[in-house]
Parts: sequence; structure tokens; C-alpha cells
Amino acid sequence: MPVRGRPWFGARARRGQVMPTTRFPALSRRDFLKTSGTLAAATALPPGKAPGPAFATRLTPAPARVPMVGDDFPATAVWAYGGSMPGPVLRVRQGAPFQAVVRNGLDEDTTVHWHGVRLPNAMDGVPGLTQPPVRPGGSFSYAFTPPDAGTFWYHPHADGLVQMGRGLAGALIVEEAEPPQVDRELVWVIQDWRLTRDAQIDPHFSSRMAEAMAGRIGNTVTLNGRVPDAIKVRAGERTRLRLINAATARIMALRFAGHRPVIVALDGQPCDPHEPAGGRLLLGPAMRADLILDATGEPGSRHAVTDDFYGDELAYSLVEFAYESGPLLREHALDASVRLPPNPLPTPELASAERHVLALQGGMMGGMDMMGMRGSAAWAINGMSMTGDGRTGMSPLLTLARGQTCVLSLRNETAWWHPMHLHGHSFRLLTRNGAAVPGTVWGDTVLVPPREAVEVAFVADNPGDWMLHCHVMDHQASGLMTVIRVA
Ligand code: C2O
Ligand code: CU
Ligand code: CU
Repeated sequence: MPVRGRPWFGARARRGQVMPTTRFPALSRRDFLKTSGTLAAATALPPGKAPGPAFATRLTPAPARVPMVGDDFPATAVWAYGGSMPGPVLRVRQGAPFQAVVRNGLDEDTTVHWHGVRLPNAMDGVPGLTQPPVRPGGSFSYAFTPPDAGTFWYHPHADGLVQMGRGLAGALIVEEAEPPQVDRELVWVIQDWRLTRDAQIDPHFSSRMAEAMAGRIGNTVTLNGRVPDAIKVRAGERTRLRLINAATARIMALRFAGHRPVIVALDGQPCDPHEPAGGRLLLGPAMRADLILDATGEPGSRHAVTDDFYGDELAYSLVEFAYESGPLLREHALDASVRLPPNPLPTPELASAERHVLALQGGMMGGMDMMGMRGSAAWAINGMSMTGDGRTGMSPLLTLARGQTCVLSLRNETAWWHPMHLHGHSFRLLTRNGAAVPGTVWGDTVLVPPREAVEVAFVADNPGDWMLHCHVMDHQASGLMTVIRVA
């Protein structure tokens, strides 16, 4: 019931021929120089971390048409940043100034939120909380200097279910001064769509049922805005794969047949390099993973990347790697380290931490009916429902003193999964159901399974009012959202 079926546009288009890799995010000239440089000389970038050049761009969200599912179907009407869907891959160097002037070409209010970036509150893009909404025809200039390198993304924080559901999302890559040595880098912005038979986005966004269950899960999954053809691979090459789950509700569990990818960062934050548990990479909406993937397959072979989160029956193949038949790029996998340099995250002081329990409540079979659903609320946090874009004048659930370490215990009392996201900070994962999370794992979004509990810790070092919400857009809009104040 919560999932309508296997994605059905993919299967036929996916059997198509191998497309040139330039169909996928092309390496920038800078990447190319970097990559060819490291290949040629096997030396790292020169020491002394120059901040890198400032980056400035314009982003105009507006209606557009894109060929989402292939030539046999009409182009799909979407909302896109500057006509490109997903939006352009924005790249800035860690510690260098970033600026984006957003001009609203939609006929409703919008904003841009820079998901996962620890930036000043006024740049966070939450209408009514951190800035006035950007009116149709209006503009807003976002400027900040990202402190952390990593894989981040941007999306509207107004009418999210519709605006993201119509395509507004893009990757924001903050580059390390000294990235690990790889042969190429791919960015995969993965989105999920509920398409009609003529490949148009089903315009019925809000459904009481989807709201109170798993959210609007679609029937078509795209990679960088297209139902993908196979991706060409050269045996022996090492790829850095930056995955972004930009779906509004679909959770993914990815398997890389015939390969052993190593996770080197989660939500942009470096972790101890490790393989996904059981070979299955779990990625809820808004979550990211950086993988190092060594092409260990045979020349001429093909290997699928599949997603089986909703069970075998609903499993589908997201994309295939198609090995070229030419010679190996190298005989043995690179033995260069894949560990990423650390980001300057403040260390939580657990001994003196302030502890709070946030109970996630509601949904079908969740007792919200007993609590009495107020207005459009289907969900609540500790009995309170902040709905819509959050413009309800609700006072913060918690007020934390600046510099205070806070341990949040997220207790999912519902029958549904919730990717819970905190703005303005990255938190450290402490425990799941009371058991310590191995290694050092940071994130800005944590997937909390039904009836389970997760503890996270962070230093409240970034002043302002910050959203904490479920990133299933239907859930956020219908009450699974609150505000934490750092004063
Ligand atoms: Cu990705 Cu509150 O957002
Ligand atoms: Cu965010
Ligand atoms: Cu949720």
C-alpha cells in the first residue's frame, strides 16, 4: 500500500545502449587537471591550503521541460533551476566564499536551503524563520563560507512537497584542499517521481493517505534527472561516487553487484572508511554518501546497482555499470588511502551534555487519531505539530545555550521510517536502541526505523532558530517538524 509498485518507466529505457559518460556530470576542467595531474605524477596537491577561488552563481527556479524518461515519451514539465533539472552541480572549495543570487521565476514563494552546510542562520533559507520568503519575481542573495568539505545539496524550503516534487534540487560540492586520489568523480542526484503514462508529474501532491503513511513514493527513479542508461566503466579505475538521495519520500537500499564500495563520508562528513553493512547502503531522503568504488569487474562485463529497500518484489535496477572491453587501466587497485581529511567539527562533551527526548508521534496506526489530529497535522513531536513551511509562530521546542553539548534521543513511536534532519549543525551518532554506533559517524540526517530510538550529540555552537524535521516531505508538511533555538 505505501508503495505503488516497481518503478515502471525505467525498465525499457534502461536496456538501451551504453551512453558516453559525458551524459553524466562532466568533470570540470579543474577536476580534469587535478585528476590527470595526480595520475601523471602521483603527487598530492602542493602543501599550504589555499582557500581556493570564491564562487558566485545565479539560480533561477522556474518551469522547464526536460526529457526525463527517454525519447519514446514527451518531455516532462518540471520546475528547474536555470532550466537544468536537477540544478547545476555547484562546486566551491572548503573555506572559500560562496554566493548565489536566487531570482524567483515561479508563481509562488520560494527560498533556497543549503542542506547540511553549517552556515549563519540568516542564510539558512527557511521562510518566516530565517528570512522573508522570496516572492515571485523577487530575489535573495545567499552568501556564506562553508566550513566543511563534503557532499551537500540545495533545495527550496517553501512548499517542499510540491517544489521538490517538481524537481527543484541540486548538488553542492565543497571540495577538500587535498582530495583523495581517484581517476574520476561522479555525482548522482537521485530523485523519485510519480509520473502519469505520458511521463508528466502527477499533480495531486497532497494525499491524506500518503501523508500519514510512507509519503508520496513514486513509480520512476532518475539519476541526474534521467532514467539512466548504463554508465561506462574502465576496468581498474577508481571512482569517487557522491550519492544524494533527493527524493521527497523514497528510502533507498543500494547494492552494487560485483563490487565492494567503501563509504568514506556520510552526509558530507568523513567517516572511518568501511563497507556498507551486509553490502546494502541505506540512504533515506536528504542523506548523502561518498563512496570509493574500485572497478574490479572484467572488461566487457555488466553489473547492476539495485535498490531493494521495499523488499524483493519492489526491487529495481537503478543503473548498470558497463565495462569497456579495452585494456585495464591498471593491474592492481590503487593502494592510495581513501580516508578523507577531517572537517573542523566541534567535539561534543558528553559528560556535561544536556539531554532531551524527542518522541516522534502519529501517522496511521500511530495513535494520532487518539490524540486528535488538529487541522492538517498527522504527526507530532512531543505532542506538538508544526505544519506547512513552519510559519506557525510556534515557539522553539528547546532553547540551548551557545556552546552547550546536547544529546537528543529521537524515539520513533510510529509505524513508519523517519529521516530526521537538523539544520545548522552536524551531529554525532551515539547509539541505536541503546547500542553504541561503531566508529565515528557524523550526519545531519538520521534514519530512525519504526519503534526504534537513536541518540545523537552535537555542540550547539551556531546561534539562531534551527529547524529539526523529518525529510519525508509529506511528513514535514503535516507536523513532523519543530524548532531548536541556540541562544
Ligand atoms: Cu533539506 Cu529542512 O531541509
Ligand atoms: Cu537542512
Ligand atoms: Cu517521517
